[in-house]
Amino acid sequence: DGASSLDLSSLTKQTGLTGLDYGFVNTSATRSAITYIDGDAGILRYRGYPIEQVAANASYLETAWLLIYGELPTADELAEFDEKIRRHTLLHEDLKRFFSALPHTAHPMSVLSSAVSALSTYYEDSSDPKDAEQVELTTIRLLAKLPVIAAYAHKKSVGQAFLYPDNSLSFVDNFLKLNFGNLAEIYQIDPVLSKALERLLILHEDHEQNASTSTVRLVGSTGANLYASISAGINALYGPLHGGANEAVLEMLAGIRDSGEGVARFVERVKNKEDGVKLMGFGHRVYKNYDPRAKLVKESADEVLELLGVHDPLLDLAKELEQIALEDDYFKERRLYPNVDFYTGVIYKAMGFPTRMFTVLFAIGRLPGWIAHWREMNNDPQTKIGRPQQLYVGSPQRDWPADR
Ligand code: ACO
Repeated sequence: DGASSLDLSSLTKQTGLTGLDYGFVNTSATRSAITYIDGDAGILRYRGYPIEQVAANASYLETAWLLIYGELPTADELAEFDEKIRRHTLLHEDLKRFFSALPHTAHPMSVLSSAVSALSTYYEDSSDPKDAEQVELTTIRLLAKLPVIAAYAHKKSVGQAFLYPDNSLSFVDNFLKLNFGNLAEIYQIDPVLSKALERLLILHEDHEQNASTSTVRLVGSTGANLYASISAGINALYGPLHGGANEAVLEMLAGIRDSGEGVARFVERVKNKEDGVKLMGFGHRVYKNYDPRAKLVKESADEVLELLGVHDPLLDLAKELEQIALEDDYFKERRLYPNVDFYTGVIYKAMGFPTRMFTVLFAIGRLPGWIAHWREMNNDPQTKIGRPQQLYVGSPQRDWPADR
């Protein structure tokens, strides 16, 4: 399965030669046993299991275990993992006050990364990367607390009270209730929503050396703790070319609808690269064929909207856009297909999440992958501090002006 590659690290030492590789298109920074992708064939596997099978059979936490520990958990292992996570969902009351110091207009991704960074101020007792028990505890704390922080970022942005986690509920149901259960006595978690959200989270759990995961590994390679590394990963995910694309897709669709310019005209503007406009949710560094996650998300979009009885004209627009793009030579020649984020926003919107929460949902999905990679990096005796080379193109040596 694996493509062959040349180990350049020792070659550089011997010859002094380095490669110039903008965007690391050609450079493997590590060996990894977590996730396999064949971008040409549209294949994605977690620890060897095809994503389609994982998404059809596993829960979010079962998938997290698989990614982090390498094998499927036994029933007892999974129950214990789930139980531990339920016991760590509470946030320190002081940390809750931290949210009130931020403006309600803050983007929830900034709130999320700041609060995760702040977690290490509360848990210095579990911040030592070299202590296996502490790493274990941090893993549990992060999995338990990130959804709560995410829900509070949401509540903060809409000016509503924070709820306490309800640990009698499953991971996903607890999260839904924290977001939407202010009228707790009448809020019923819709099992259709819960299942659909769990599926979307699973599809996002890992994607090998993407920008945010590479960031987590790079920060971790300095010996920084897991909280600091995950906070950095959240910031990397924020950008519209990465996780922020799910938010950007919905803004793009709403923009097309509101301007009345029509899909065909919008596609023309993309092709002419007018004002650098891109078809958000299209294209991928690795997939040069259909993103296998996008297929599953598209099915979910149809199911969820039908079951909820929602008719969203933005979904019709997205389908029209996809159809036109897939038949167009510009996109065919560049092998641009919908990625995982093309349809997720439509589903999150139908579930009632505000647009600015979409990338936060991605972060909750991706957390197990980030943790798995950080731990793989942390346990690998080959790990060195990440430190790319550069080709210097600035001025040669010159003398400081004598009259200055
Ligand atoms: N719309 C229009 N043209 C595009 C798009 C797009 N979405 N994506 C790539 N292209 C074009 C580029 O302009 C370039 O054209 P050129 O050869 O005429 O210059 C060509 O396709 C190759 O694109 P690159 O930018 O070299 O591809 P790269 O692998 O560096 O970028 C990326 C991948 C960032 C995902 C890009 O496709 C993109 O910006 N897509 C839109 C944002 C997006 O959806 N991001 C989510 C990625 S998936 C994820 O993070 C979960």
